[in-house]
Amino acid sequence: MAKAIVIYYSRSGNTKEMAEIIAKAMNESDLPTECKSVDKVKAEDLLSYDAIVVGSPTYYGHMAGPLKQLFDDTVTYHGKLDGKVGAAFSSAANIGGGNETTIMGIIEAMLIAGLIVQGDPKGDHYGPVSIGKPDQRVERQCVRRGQRIAELTKKLF
Ligand SMILES: Cc1cc2nc3c(=O)[nH]c(=O)nc-3n(C[C@H](O)[C@H](O)[C@H](O)COP(=O)(O)O)c2cc1C
Repeated sequence: MAKAIVIYYSRSGNTKEMAEIIAKAMNESDLPTECKSVDKVKAEDLLSYDAIVVGSPTYYGHMAGPLKQLFDDTVTYHGKLDGKVGAAFSSAANIGGGNETTIMGIIEAMLIAGLIVQGDPKGDHYGPVSIGKPDQRVERQCVRRGQRIAELTKKLF
């Protein structure tokens, strides 16, 4: 059976909240999904999941350092994540604060690793974005994204 992981970095809880909503929606869509802070995840752990979802606060328009380090550590397994499903999300302080460039940075790393990333024509296109603490709009986007990741992953695996 397919399984998935949502990995996040979060200092003040906003990204963690998004991660938990996404993971819950994935589990409720019948894709067994773990939700872990990046400090509890090693690069080799990623090999055992069919879908990998990564969430970061926006730090100067990029992902937080510990998440970049995790991607860098996967170089040992380069090519072995090929064909898995990937997705990303981000929390920032301000509209125009770099949410989407952060998501695109994560997606770029995922594409280099060979992950399959699905956009969304009707929801947040690149991945859910939040300004500060997730509000009801963000919650809906996270649920929608979780459901879509689960659907795609179950189709492929
Ligand atoms: C080092 C640092 C850099 C940040 N850079 C940005 C930024 O470029 N744009 C922005 O809108 N917010 C920026 N923020 C704010 C965080 O992205 C925002 O508070 C986010 O919601 C924090 O997520 P968390 O609660 O999961 O830690 C920055 C915060 C820190 C600590």
